Amino acid sequence: MKKILIVGAGGQIGSELTAYLRSIYGANNVVATDVRECESLSSTGPFEVLNALDAKAFAEIVNKYKIDTIYNLVALLSAVGEKDPMFAWSINMGALTNSLEIAREYGCALFTPSSIGAFGPSSPKDSTPQDTLMQPTTIYGVCKVTGEMISNYYNLRYGLDTRSVRFPGIISNLTLPGGGTTDYAVEIFYEAVKSGKFTCPIPSDMFMDMLYMPDALKACVELMEADPAKLIHRNSFNIASMSFSPDIIYKEICKHIPNLQMDYKIEPIKEAIASSWPNSLDDTCARAEWGWKPDWNLENMTVDMLKHIKIKKEKGLL
Ligand code: SER
Repeated sequence: MKKILIVGAGGQIGSELTAYLRSIYGANNVVATDVRECESLSSTGPFEVLNALDAKAFAEIVNKYKIDTIYNLVALLSAVGEKDPMFAWSINMGALTNSLEIAREYGCALFTPSSIGAFGPSSPKDSTPQDTLMQPTTIYGVCKVTGEMISNYYNLRYGLDTRSVRFPGIISNLTLPGGGTTDYAVEIFYEAVKSGKFTCPIPSDMFMDMLYMPDALKACVELMEADPAKLIHRNSFNIASMSFSPDIIYKEICKHIPNLQMDYKIEPIKEAIASSWPNSLDDTCARAEWGWKPDWNLENMTVDMLKHIKIKKEKGLL
């Protein structure tokens, strides 16, 4: 049985990945850590407060629990990263270099997500290939490309079992994202149910790839369980399931909430970031090398999101 450590478990992905991994591997085999106390994580299994930049404390936890697999989910996202680029660099890269070194020292496998943000304006926009030009224009993207390259390097140089996917915007109904360019695609669902009105910060025709959380969780586990002999790519895999613009998701939600009103107040930083990213990724390599296949699309995800957020509203949780 694996002994898993999740670093940065209190964020959007971590809070759901912790529960998912605990359901598969047993609660006691999944240690969650975050820089802050987190009741929902500590009441359901082992939990430690950890600043991932503190290499000594990080290594002590790996040693204490005899960890063999690390999920490093620490990251400042794209829009918030632009407010203080060097802070974003120090957090994103500090957590990654500590994860790499500690994984090397203790012989752990390491998962670190990359992102559609690793691409830039010079990358092909549509069906962006797995291997192509990557010259991002955000500090978040610079961290992600660097992270991909150094993870690949650790695999080649030290044989470290590094694995990664390039996540698009992740849509979920449990924990809200924070500081990302794709956050609008979550916020629109909450506002549709709460107020029936949404002000969109992204231009109506701007396409970006998105993924529903259950597919994101499945991708993490399937990639980490994949036969290493079949993995040709050790930097990060393109994965994809749906690509849409604000106008398209608005029309999809209107099929269920016909009175939804949407206007636009474009946030220039988000617009610049979104326009530098691909419209849609080509995920052929992930499908071929480890069997990636999403279960969700815009239609069934919209139904499921609205169902769960309406339940929250009925319970007075919005
Ligand atoms: N969701 C991220 C962001 O918008 C992209 O990976 O920053």
